[in-house]
Amino acid sequence: MTDSRTAQHQRSLDDPDGFWLEQARSLDWITPPTRAGDWSFDEKDFHVRWFEDGVLNVSANCLDRHLAEHGDRVAIVWEPDDPKAEPKRFTYAQVHEEVCRFANVLKAQGVQKGDRVTVYMPMIPEAAFALLACARIGAIHSVVFGGFSADSLAGRMEDCGSAVVITADEGRRGGKTVPLKTTVDEAATIFAGVKTVLVVKCTGRDVPMTEGRDVWYHEAAAKVSTDCPPEPMKAEDPLFILYTSGSTGKPKGVVHTTGGYLLWAALTFRTTFDYKAPEIFWCTADIGWVTGHSYIVYGPLASGATSLMFEGVPTWPTSARMWEVVDRHDVSILYTAPTALRSLMKEGDDIVKATSRKSLRLLGTVGEPINPEAWRWYHDVVGDGRCPIVDTWWQTETGGHMITPFPGTVTKPGSATLPFHGVEPKLLDGEGKELHGEAEGNLIIARAWPGMMRGVWGDEKRFFDTYFRTFPGVYTTGDGARRDEDGYYWITGRVDDVINVSGHRMGTAEVESALVLHDDVAEAAVVGMPHDVKGQGIYAYVTLNSGIEASEDLRQALKKHVRHEIGPIATPDAIQFAPGLPKTRSGKIMRRILRKIAEGEIGALGDTSTLADPSVVDDLVKNRVG
Ligand code: WTA
Repeated sequence: MTDSRTAQHQRSLDDPDGFWLEQARSLDWITPPTRAGDWSFDEKDFHVRWFEDGVLNVSANCLDRHLAEHGDRVAIVWEPDDPKAEPKRFTYAQVHEEVCRFANVLKAQGVQKGDRVTVYMPMIPEAAFALLACARIGAIHSVVFGGFSADSLAGRMEDCGSAVVITADEGRRGGKTVPLKTTVDEAATIFAGVKTVLVVKCTGRDVPMTEGRDVWYHEAAAKVSTDCPPEPMKAEDPLFILYTSGSTGKPKGVVHTTGGYLLWAALTFRTTFDYKAPEIFWCTADIGWVTGHSYIVYGPLASGATSLMFEGVPTWPTSARMWEVVDRHDVSILYTAPTALRSLMKEGDDIVKATSRKSLRLLGTVGEPINPEAWRWYHDVVGDGRCPIVDTWWQTETGGHMITPFPGTVTKPGSATLPFHGVEPKLLDGEGKELHGEAEGNLIIARAWPGMMRGVWGDEKRFFDTYFRTFPGVYTTGDGARRDEDGYYWITGRVDDVINVSGHRMGTAEVESALVLHDDVAEAAVVGMPHDVKGQGIYAYVTLNSGIEASEDLRQALKKHVRHEIGPIATPDAIQFAPGLPKTRSGKIMRRILRKIAEGEIGALGDTSTLADPSVVDDLVKNRVG
């Protein structure tokens, strides 16, 4: 297997046009492409295009083409938050009908090809229908995770000029309700460009509806037909925008296009998981993240698979929930995040062993480096030693898997192993010199691949500057990696100011901006710190305005403030009040020192003599939190 994999990988690099045009035939094109990749990472002639003369529709690929042979196959299995509630199943024919109806509702609201539609939804089937409905009419969806605040939602809508948002009255998660519609109302007071709010009834809670702006989905749906021909789209037309955190500034809108992205999502899905119908595939991510886009919706449905969608959380009502869901639906392939495994591992093996899990064939992880201990627990306890693990490394920007085992690849706990077809990773030192053989350095990708992002919405320059300037001519991932004697890659984590909290990306700059918005805060610096369950936690150093007393109450107030500004996932785990931050004479904060202190590596602070005031470090060390 590894040999044939290597041969195929080699061929994908030697004859990229032949390889990719052949792979592209697995999609259903209205006009098949005659060209594969056309790209240059050079600043003067920078461009990335794939299958440029091809024409297709993503929803037709995910639905219509399966109808003749597999119309009655289940496309989506939905497991509700409350285990006592009934799961729902939708066949391909039913999803097709729902999506056509949804698409007609969007059209009736005036949504046109190229318009941006924001999706702020709980994990209910309508969220998947909404995405596919946008794709059907050529609207560009921008999903905002339901845990983000009104400010974050408004900022994202404003950035991409989205006048329409699809939401629900409320969501359900872990036995609690999430007031989505209320948050949308608040966002609309911040961004006046919100013109239409389409509300899906989920919990049935009575929510205020604003005349002329808010529309109940079920009422609008009753008025439209279920006949909606798919819009022919050029391969390079945008399919979606997804906001993600970077090392600086506000989150950026990563743009993915139609042909290349769909091929990448589908091919990686089929190859990495070796999916065979009628297996049940369960990706536990939320649809608000790229993992949900590629491996709940697009990859599985383009492949005619059965995708399980879960409304709840792995720890509610008990920490047996994940294994109970596996048994209830006979899940064959489970794809989850190391943070979930670490939190369940703490609860002991008996809870897992009390369930059968015999349906499982393959286990996958994504989102952050998996520590060997969690890998072994996943393998030995969850998979009873029977199931291979695919540790898939990729990013919002890459569209799908980039470095990953396939089911037959010899694995090593903690290594994402080898590059996917067409992917050419390299390691560079700080100066951009390539490192050969066994080495550790900056992970870059030396050539374009079909699923890669095509831009930052509204900011071409930021796209180039973020990914192609540091090391000219290649795509910079922002991750570090080690390559071992077998050529296997071991991702070591971010080398920039992005932190990875429970597999969710957070820019330190975003949390800092939120903190300094508070009236009592003069300055803030945020770094990652090691965290047993979350992988990384958020450690904030805060300098208060003069005259303001540090207190436990203020600490709690600041945490609450960040939750309100960004959302619960950005809540600092530790806040240290610091009279001063370590700065160079030119005023630059020396984050290296702050990171070491947060990590508790007090002995390894390195040279502090270039600081404007070296004595601040003593105070920081003395008052370390945690
Ligand atoms: C990290 C999630 C190690 C990495 C798909 C990357 C991983 C960031 C792995 C992207 C893995 C993701 N091993 N690290 N298997 N998968 N990462 O954009 O730091 O939310 O840059 O995409 O997660 O996070 P994003």
